[in-house]
Amino acid sequence: GQGYDLVVVANRLPVDFSVDDDGAVDWQRSPGGLVSALEPVMQENEGAWVGWSGAPDLAHEPFEADGMMLVPVTLSASEIRKYYEGFSNDTLWPLYHDVIAPPAYHRQWWDAYRRVNQRFAEAAAAQAAPGAVVWVHDYQLQLVPKMLRELRPDLRIGFFDHIPFPPVELFQQLPWRRNILEGLLGADLIGFQRGGDASNFVRAVRRLTDHPTRGSVVSMEDADGNPGRRVRAAAFPISIDTQRFDDLARSPEVQARAKEIRADLGDPDVVMLGVDRLDYTKGIRHRIKAYGEILQDGRIDAAHTTLVQVASPSRENVGAYQELREHVEILVGRLNGEFGEIGHSAIHYLHHSYPPEEMAALYLAADVMLVTSLRDGMNLVAKEYIAARSDLDGVLVLSEFTGAADELAPGPLLVNPHDIDGMKDTIVAAAHLDPKEKRRRMRRLRRKVMGDDVAKWSKSFLGVLTAMPSRDTHV
Ligand code: G6P
Repeated sequence: GQGYDLVVVANRLPVDFSVDDDGAVDWQRSPGGLVSALEPVMQENEGAWVGWSGAPDLAHEPFEADGMMLVPVTLSASEIRKYYEGFSNDTLWPLYHDVIAPPAYHRQWWDAYRRVNQRFAEAAAAQAAPGAVVWVHDYQLQLVPKMLRELRPDLRIGFFDHIPFPPVELFQQLPWRRNILEGLLGADLIGFQRGGDASNFVRAVRRLTDHPTRGSVVSMEDADGNPGRRVRAAAFPISIDTQRFDDLARSPEVQARAKEIRADLGDPDVVMLGVDRLDYTKGIRHRIKAYGEILQDGRIDAAHTTLVQVASPSRENVGAYQELREHVEILVGRLNGEFGEIGHSAIHYLHHSYPPEEMAALYLAADVMLVTSLRDGMNLVAKEYIAARSDLDGVLVLSEFTGAADELAPGPLLVNPHDIDGMKDTIVAAAHLDPKEKRRRMRRLRRKVMGDDVAKWSKSFLGVLTAMPSRDTHV
């Protein structure tokens, strides 16, 4: 055909593939946040989604699923090691999260990153109709906008960075910092989670390139050095499918399951909850340390309090993640050894991921939700918890270092996870918060979150992108 009017490019496809013993490839939907955000616009617009199949050497023809075309990109085992585990998750991820873990800089990883980005750009170029909109996602694909524009100057290109964009003083560590900036500047619109991320990006452009900037607009010269295209950087804070979590949490099955969870935990007075990918950016160790000291100090009653920590497996081939797992599991074991009893654990550590129904039940069962990231682009768990609490019960303890804190203050109890004493005080206060104050805060949080779902987010980004003048000569 003529190609697709809307092409999404993301590292992962919204499906999981499986290969049976005879080598036959099958797939199942994997309902992540981004798919639910984009499904409606994809179905309205003849959409295609270009992404990695998720397994080494797994090739598959483009196929239709849920009203969109899915276009798998194949990566070899070595490309997965260098592009995905290496450059994306052992260089960019720690660098962009304030170097909480030391980023590793390897030229071979960079080469693979460039090659794989080129492959994604080519796949997108092959799918896009003349003048189509292409929306590229996240830190794994920052070179795609420029590569794609070179292949297809007719396209309108948007990029959204789901993770923080670091201050230039950190970003400039990257040996390929200019290539990354130029890669991103291939887009017409570059979206970030927070205003601070957008201004970090513009400062980096100002410091590290020669492109003139005015406010959040960057002016690109044409081949003759004349002013040409304008690139805009702006904040588009992402959200969740709020109605889905609200509905789930109101369903009798989920409510019964929430009661069952509390009963299975031994009906403690206070259930605290942490839900994270097992990632060093999430502040899981700081959280467990604070919680352990609170029990030690006797400020909350260990016999009647439980922390449920869901830590879903993530990036298990990357060293920093393996180390984190060791550390967390040692901490959990120590705490339970110290404060557990027959029939009661101080902390229930679950190294699994769960479907949304079970998550909604956990949110309903939790008196206190602990989100203590050291750095986090947005943090959708905080929003899911709020969307699930139409009963207005429950307290959100939220790190200042999340995009969500920028949006949600003053509803949550804010913490600096580095300040263990401060965090202990806040967690204790959360456990004892006056019911009226709890409702007041949750009502406020829900007013913020419920009107602001992810469909609105994607519409607003695409609205700004398509309304931009395609060519403008002056900044
Ligand atoms: C973050 C990133 C996403 C990524 C997700 C899961 O939310 O912003 O791009 O897909 O983590 O990580 P993974 O490496 O498993 O895709």
